[in-house]
Amino acid sequence: MPLHDASNVAAIIVEPIAGSAGWYVPPMDYLKRLRAICDQHGILLIFDEVITGFGRLGVNFGADFYGVVPDMLNFAKCVTNGVIPLGGVVCREHIYDAMMNAGNPEHMIEFFHGYTYSGHPVACAAAIATLNLFKQEDLFARAGQMGQLLGHALHSAFAGKAGIVSIRTLGLAGAIELMPLAGLPGKRAYDVFLDCFRQGLLVRPAGENIVLCPPYIVSESQIAQMVETLTACIQRSFAAA
Ligand SMILES: Cc1ncc(COP(=O)(O)O)c(C=O)c1O
Repeated sequence: MPLHDASNVAAIIVEPIAGSAGWYVPPMDYLKRLRAICDQHGILLIFDEVITGFGRLGVNFGADFYGVVPDMLNFAKCVTNGVIPLGGVVCREHIYDAMMNAGNPEHMIEFFHGYTYSGHPVACAAAIATLNLFKQEDLFARAGQMGQLLGHALHSAFAGKAGIVSIRTLGLAGAIELMPLAGLPGKRAYDVFLDCFRQGLLVRPAGENIVLCPPYIVSESQIAQMVETLTACIQRSFAAA
């Protein structure tokens, strides 16, 4: 008998796009199929939308982008422009009701958490200000438009180039996967990250990937500048090897 099967899995948690690992975009309908499997076996589906949530894909959440409703969804980063720490969890009514109707005495607080910084007013003010700006400046739509430009720019610069293993773009983010240095996993991307940093460009190394995840206010010329700097740093890395 397998150690894990549908009978002892309570929940599945996934990022709609595996962002922290290096912007791995799922195959079409992957999340719909995951939803169907979870429904079939009574397993909760949880979306970690810390990266994909609040506009990164040009719409509110990855759940909207893929047309799949999870049972729970956690968010953080973009809700305060990634500057002030604030996170949250949204759940479907039946989960909320199960917590609220657990039969506890009236005076007990349901679903209690005792964080030192719970409900911090500065974080809440930052979130409210961020959400207002998202709305006033229609920034999710802008993220979608700028994402198209970023995608085109990355594919134009790197498609078919030596040392490039893959290019994955969707929404306002993208990853360039590099040919690793023999025997030194992750070092190529780390070296490129350092070189970019020295040139004034902040990218994120993840395994053999360089991930770009610019702010929603990024301009077309800044995207061009980012791709130009990254191109030079990657070329330097391969020239040195
Ligand atoms: C996708 C994803 N989930 C969860 C986390 C962790 O979030 P927190 O630091 O708010 O616990 C991160 C942090 O980078 C993340 O990228």
